[in-house]
Amino acid sequence: MKLKAFGFSMLCVGASLQAQVPSRVPAIADGSILETLGIDALRHDAVTGLSYAELRPEEASALSYYMHSKKRCGGFQALPAPLKNETEFSSLMKPLQSAEVSRAQISSRPMSFASQPLVARPELLAAFDEVSAENQRKWVEFISAFESRYHNIADPNIHVRAIQARLQEMAKESELPISIELVSHARTPQKSIRARILGSTRASEIVVLGGHLDSTVGWFARGRAPGADDNASGSSNVLEAFRILSKMPQPERTIEFYWYAAEEIGLVGSAEIARAAKEAKHDIIGVLQLDMTLHPGSGPLTLASMEDFTSPWLRQLLVEINGSYALGAQILADKCGYGCSDHASWYQQGFATVMPFESGFDKMNSEIHSTRDVINSASNFTHSALFTKIALAFAWELGNSSLREPKL
Ligand code: BES
Ligand code: ZN
Repeated sequence: MKLKAFGFSMLCVGASLQAQVPSRVPAIADGSILETLGIDALRHDAVTGLSYAELRPEEASALSYYMHSKKRCGGFQALPAPLKNETEFSSLMKPLQSAEVSRAQISSRPMSFASQPLVARPELLAAFDEVSAENQRKWVEFISAFESRYHNIADPNIHVRAIQARLQEMAKESELPISIELVSHARTPQKSIRARILGSTRASEIVVLGGHLDSTVGWFARGRAPGADDNASGSSNVLEAFRILSKMPQPERTIEFYWYAAEEIGLVGSAEIARAAKEAKHDIIGVLQLDMTLHPGSGPLTLASMEDFTSPWLRQLLVEINGSYALGAQILADKCGYGCSDHASWYQQGFATVMPFESGFDKMNSEIHSTRDVINSASNFTHSALFTKIALAFAWELGNSSLREPKL
């Protein structure tokens, strides 16, 4: 089943604002967009969601910028003259409140969990330029070149130390408060990696990105276990997200990045990490799991949003990100039918999760868990790079807003 992208149909007027430079521009605009941009409204109409503001030139150009760059209409209307009083505002709103005008025409519909629709942020659009198929390929080559990443081989942390070293190099280049640590586990000698970008104003609120770094070719198998798709690919998305975010301004919330140990034997690393987070009462806002992003079995840029062990509001956020940032993904809804990856560990501890996956479940890469899970002609690094953009948007949007799971 295809999920329909959220549509925002708005009055697209006031486009000439960009050219104007009067001291103040009186305007009617979508209240939630004004709020997003930090523009003070003088009056607000709860029925239509519209607000009246007198925009300073820089506010007018910010609003205009959003309108014209986001491939959707921001919804505002410049007025010929400032409104004198509440009565004038009410009489403007009256016809818009009436049944003849559909609500969809007069304002954007906010997401059910958010007070405002997602408006693309320029700094994130700029960050997307850093995402490339080539970088994604380099990481997957690097990770899948290790003989095996199975959890109990002779040295189960050889690749873990190598990735840790790469993270430390990236952290050294960054001006942000970053920590990188290995997480030991009770049930496996393999370690998980945690990287943390400390939040500026709400450091106790945590956004999590993760994927498992281990590989397998079956329970008793030894020898080569390349795990290129499962899951050098998702691990690489998380690495790229870390690399790019470490060069951006400090987020308001803390962002944690995980490369989990021993997923392939039963979500072992993530289960211990999620349990510890629960016990420590960590305020985990949302968890993005990336496990298999390289094989576009349902077509390039078609992905599945897994609906079991995931949270409706974050699945909705995924759809909203795809729309607002024009990522161009087709999002199918599908299910694993069981706790197929690390998001299930978090979900079982009561945390909100989302899992975008490379294809529909029935079209997934059939070579996983074998020596044939290598980079091959079916591998699509542009497809995989889409998941890096999703990770960036997930981290940046949740990391710089007060969005959280709606409580009923
Ligand atoms: N990458 C798979 C999970 C997966 C498979 C997700 C198919 C979506 C579709 C993961 O590494 C894995 O192999 N998980 C195990 C389950 C786990 C509890 C050991 C599996 O699916 O058998
Ligand atoms: Zn697997």
